[in-house]
Amino acid sequence: MRIGFTCLIGLALLSLLEVASARPGMEHVVNITYQMAQPIFVALDNDLPAELKNQTPAEREAAWPGWVTRHDREMRARLMRGEEDTLVNFLTFGTSFTAQPRLTASQFASLPFDPVSSQLSPDTSPEATLFLHRVDDLLRGLANPGNNERLLFLAQFVEKEGYRPRDASGVSRALAERTRLKAYVLANAARVIKEQESFQSEIEEARQLKDPTEDFAERSKLYRSRGLSYDTSLLPNMAIEESLKAMQARGLLAPGSVHRAAVIGPGLDFTDKVGGYDFYPQQTIQCFALVDTLFRLGLARMGQLHLTTFDVSQRVNDHLRRALRRAQLGQAYVVQLPRHSQTPWKPATSDYWRQFGDQIGTPVTPIRAPTLAGSVETRAVQIRPAIVSMITPVDLDIVTQHLDLTPQEGFDLIIATNVFVYYGLFEQLLALVNTQSMLRAGGFLLANNSVPVLSSYQMRAVDYLSLFYSDLPEDGDVIAWYQRAPD
Ligand SMILES: C[S@@+](CC[C@H](N)C(=O)[O-])C[C@H]1O[C@@H](n2cnc3c(N)ncnc32)[C@H](O)[C@@H]1O
Repeated sequence: MRIGFTCLIGLALLSLLEVASARPGMEHVVNITYQMAQPIFVALDNDLPAELKNQTPAEREAAWPGWVTRHDREMRARLMRGEEDTLVNFLTFGTSFTAQPRLTASQFASLPFDPVSSQLSPDTSPEATLFLHRVDDLLRGLANPGNNERLLFLAQFVEKEGYRPRDASGVSRALAERTRLKAYVLANAARVIKEQESFQSEIEEARQLKDPTEDFAERSKLYRSRGLSYDTSLLPNMAIEESLKAMQARGLLAPGSVHRAAVIGPGLDFTDKVGGYDFYPQQTIQCFALVDTLFRLGLARMGQLHLTTFDVSQRVNDHLRRALRRAQLGQAYVVQLPRHSQTPWKPATSDYWRQFGDQIGTPVTPIRAPTLAGSVETRAVQIRPAIVSMITPVDLDIVTQHLDLTPQEGFDLIIATNVFVYYGLFEQLLALVNTQSMLRAGGFLLANNSVPVLSSYQMRAVDYLSLFYSDLPEDGDVIAWYQRAPD
């Protein structure tokens, strides 16, 4: 999520072998203990989840493992809902399974679904007709995915959900199966539209607060009940680069001082309404963007940097592990960088896009966008295997888990963009405690969400940077800088 922001006042709340041997592995993942979380119980009191509220400390401690288990269950359900959102995005904006034009975000938002039955009639609008043609094409695609990786994934996903997509091509006896799958797809589209409407009204309410800090805090929890999405895009990485530049200029970060960095929630680009398309293989961007930036700014040096990723999604982690295995066989990783030509990017944004990857790879011929994708300019960068090999992907839920590290193993820098926004206050505070425990003293967390800082912990809000990418309203990010207190 990009957070539009005008002016934020006072965020007071707020040698290679060596490094390789320090690689954190799965064996270090531990759950947050009741004791670590305890100051949060005291601070939130009435705002605690129901099963932890109005209890004595002993009762709470006894209830804690139950809460962690429930959170884990909810997380799995949210991951499934995130996949359903992915299905809807692919249906609306994808070009690899249909010859029908993409819908725009506002056409999608205005589809006249019946609020009770989630039915959409082709007679109601040209967009509805177009959308229903796309639904038919998607069902045909799911029935015969060929080697389209996105269709293959989604066909498997709906199968796990109890549908039989291969029987849903619309021929003969399979008609009932097709009708059932179509109803499921349409119900999810209707749900996504409803959710987007409610995000819009929450954004509007936050704006009414007039206090930019409160507005930022409210927006920072916007997706707390939404499915967990993997979407990723290039531009938040530009805001991270600008933040690191500013921190360096202020002496907060010294040249060559970043040896261990981590990305919480690197994400995967499947298809989305802004900058993600489906005419190239799925890809992840953020780890490479961070290494590129750290080298460009001289904050890290080749052979002295290691990068860990933490993600709760097996799909993201498996993607990174496959990239790592290929890198170990000497294969590069190619990132496609599509850019919608009609978005009025600021010159600095175009510069960032043009130079992306110059520290970590070489430009290669990009995959050409199909006409259906609209007016898309592309470039692509082939990232050196040595860069990919710096990455260790770790399955970790930042709300309930952290790596059990010695003080010497702590990270110098952790970044998290578009991750904390999926959580409410309690879970955000837990995530912050887990993050703090993995930072070395004096290490930094950069996030594009505001997370309240409790005085009982060692994290403090240092400053923030806000950046607009284009002249479109709300097209920017605010990056908050947090630091674990130096010793
Ligand atoms: C919307 S994507 C953001 C991707 C990328 N950071 C960006 O800004 O483009 C959210 C990512 O966070 C991951 N994620 C969500 N909740 C998480 C959690 N509790 N622990 C670790 N990763 C999480 C998701 O699986 C996904 O990879």
